[in-house]
Amino acid sequence: MSLQNFVDSLDRLLDEANATLDAVASSEQLEALRVKFVGAKNGALKSVQKLMGAIEADHRPAAGKRFNDVRDAIQSALDSASERLGGAGSRRASNELPVDPTLPGIRPILGQLHPITQTIEHLKDIMGRLGFSITEGPEIEDTWHNFMALNIPEDHPARDPLDNFYLATASKQLLSPTDRDAMLLRSQTSTVQIRVMETQPLPLRIISLGRVYRPDAPDATHFPMFHQMEGLWVDKHVTMAQLKSVLRLFATSYLGNDVHVRFRPSFFPFTEPSVEVDYWWNDNWIEFGGAGMVDPNVFKALGIDSEEWSGFAFGLGVERLCMRRFGIVDIRDLYRSDVRFLRQFAS
Ligand code: PHE
Repeated sequence: MSLQNFVDSLDRLLDEANATLDAVASSEQLEALRVKFVGAKNGALKSVQKLMGAIEADHRPAAGKRFNDVRDAIQSALDSASERLGGAGSRRASNELPVDPTLPGIRPILGQLHPITQTIEHLKDIMGRLGFSITEGPEIEDTWHNFMALNIPEDHPARDPLDNFYLATASKQLLSPTDRDAMLLRSQTSTVQIRVMETQPLPLRIISLGRVYRPDAPDATHFPMFHQMEGLWVDKHVTMAQLKSVLRLFATSYLGNDVHVRFRPSFFPFTEPSVEVDYWWNDNWIEFGGAGMVDPNVFKALGIDSEEWSGFAFGLGVERLCMRRFGIVDIRDLYRSDVRFLRQFAS
């Protein structure tokens, strides 16, 4: 095929495209013409392009350039036809719904804090008003802070590997549970009592809220991870009377004035005397935690003179407080991450 014939075909195509596109009156017509001229499969331009292979190699660059010019010209004729038909007319033709600005919008779903996080914030707030400041301790602990400094002897059942998550870490292999440096996920927040007395000057009045871990099978009242609030008050003349007042004040602030609190004699290696703290709930006494006066052996392990200083400590279960307040009966519901359940507990 000669270059001249090729150019003639292109010109004819362009003339035809300009003429028909000038007269186009609807977007359906326009779409049909778009397919006819520039359709990817059987468009007229495509057919002309195929002829290019038959042109002498010398003339091919000129043919290619001419082809591109015509293709661009047809495209802009299509564009201006589409613009001419544009606006409301073409939108209605393609079945788009008109916008109704008076319709209500789509409400975004707002997130909220998990009930346990809400509870922790609330507890910090109450205890803050009672003069306790907030400290944190690590969840991965050593045997010294979790047991030894707390006067928990080597043969105490609480140190049993079956009742704890002893760990190997990247820097430390699994050690014997009796080793002072053996690592574990802390089983109680009482570790923080030791950490603050090791590092902070006396007197001190702190709480610490965080996760603890025990290998319990999950049921309605047990979960292998839960939260505790630890409290510690060390000063010159701290007595059991203050311990009872603080826990009573706390309970009435958090649960309401009608709450009943009971202190039952108990035993913990790190407090003497020790009590269990029960709150009256659903016609039952429910144990919320333990408390007592800091045992002189704990002071001794930290080099604190127990003739000069005295203190009390307590540890309460955060889940139980949260569940009592929100009327939740199964601890597992807190950790299923079912937003339909959790969303009910907005503060
Ligand atoms: N750490 C104890 C427990 O987890 C609770 C406790 C804390 C008891 C502080 C006395 C004093 O059961």
